[in-house]
Amino acid sequence: MLKEIAKDIKSLIDPVIWITEGRFTSNELRLFDDARQLYELQLAKLEFLRFGDDLKKFVRRTAYFEEILGKKSWHYFISEVKGKGQIGHTNQYMTHWFYPYKGKFHGQMIKALINFVEAKEGDLILDPYLGSGTTLIESSLLGIDGYGVEINPALAIVSQIKLDSLKINYEEISTEIDFSKVYKVFEYFSSLKIPKNSIKPTIEDCLTAKELLEILWERFFPSSFLHDLPFEWRNFLLLIYLHALSDYTYLSGTKKGKSLQQFFFDNFKEYMKTIEGCWNIMNRLGIELGDYEILIGSALDVKLRERALRE
Ligand SMILES: C[S@@+](CC[C@H](N)C(=O)[O-])C[C@H]1O[C@@H](n2cnc3c(N)ncnc32)[C@H](O)[C@@H]1O
Repeated sequence: MLKEIAKDIKSLIDPVIWITEGRFTSNELRLFDDARQLYELQLAKLEFLRFGDDLKKFVRRTAYFEEILGKKSWHYFISEVKGKGQIGHTNQYMTHWFYPYKGKFHGQMIKALINFVEAKEGDLILDPYLGSGTTLIESSLLGIDGYGVEINPALAIVSQIKLDSLKINYEEISTEIDFSKVYKVFEYFSSLKIPKNSIKPTIEDCLTAKELLEILWERFFPSSFLHDLPFEWRNFLLLIYLHALSDYTYLSGTKKGKSLQQFFFDNFKEYMKTIEGCWNIMNRLGIELGDYEILIGSALDVKLRERALRE
């Protein structure tokens, strides 16, 4: 009996044997060329075990297979929407790359883990340490609802904006925001005088990231042409400005240093390219995003809202 269990476990945890046995090639599967780490092979194998009997689902959900029975997987197309600093099909695709944050997970790995736990539409995924939102971006792209908790308000709003940006209609925004508007946006943000320490949402407030963004616009960004734009667009432009500020402070004095304005314009172009890619691929594949909510507070002491956890 024990021997049987040990054999089962061995076959489950040894992706190298699985690869050398040629199990996956005999099923006309092709891994992404850059899936080489042992943990990636293991996750790929687990995906196969989950979805091998349902090829349609396999094509839609896999993170590590490029091709299944000669058909490109959805991850292949999704990871073609490339962002700054992207390594292969692993990270920084879609809106993952928006705003620099070093402490994040790889989207591809998170997707495979979501597959491993067999989460499906109608479930709710919780990330109590949300950081810059990788888990919720992946769950949303799989059509699964997600709930995040993050103690750092800045990261909570970055995550919210990265998620909301997946929904921006590229055709509309690219028609509306022309060069002169981009210039006005830069002028607006760069001339704002926000008193130091005036933005202090406390953990006790337990706001959602969306509520915090609404408060920021109401209290700290006085009325301007920006207020006529949809909420998601305003936040998208704000994130580009924050990213430019980060680049400017981080790179000033180095060979890559530029003016804040130049960083803003360059980043605007890159962000728009991503929005275009997201819009096109989501329409082409017919992706319906899962819902999400982000709570600002400590995961150790948070009053989760209704439906935040399954029993
Ligand atoms: C390693 S990062 C998470 C990475 C994230 N899941 C991602 O993929 O982008 C850990 C995050 O946990 C947050 N954090 C630390 N203590 C926390 C707490 N008690 N409650 C909620 N978030 C917390 C930190 O601010 C940090 O952003």
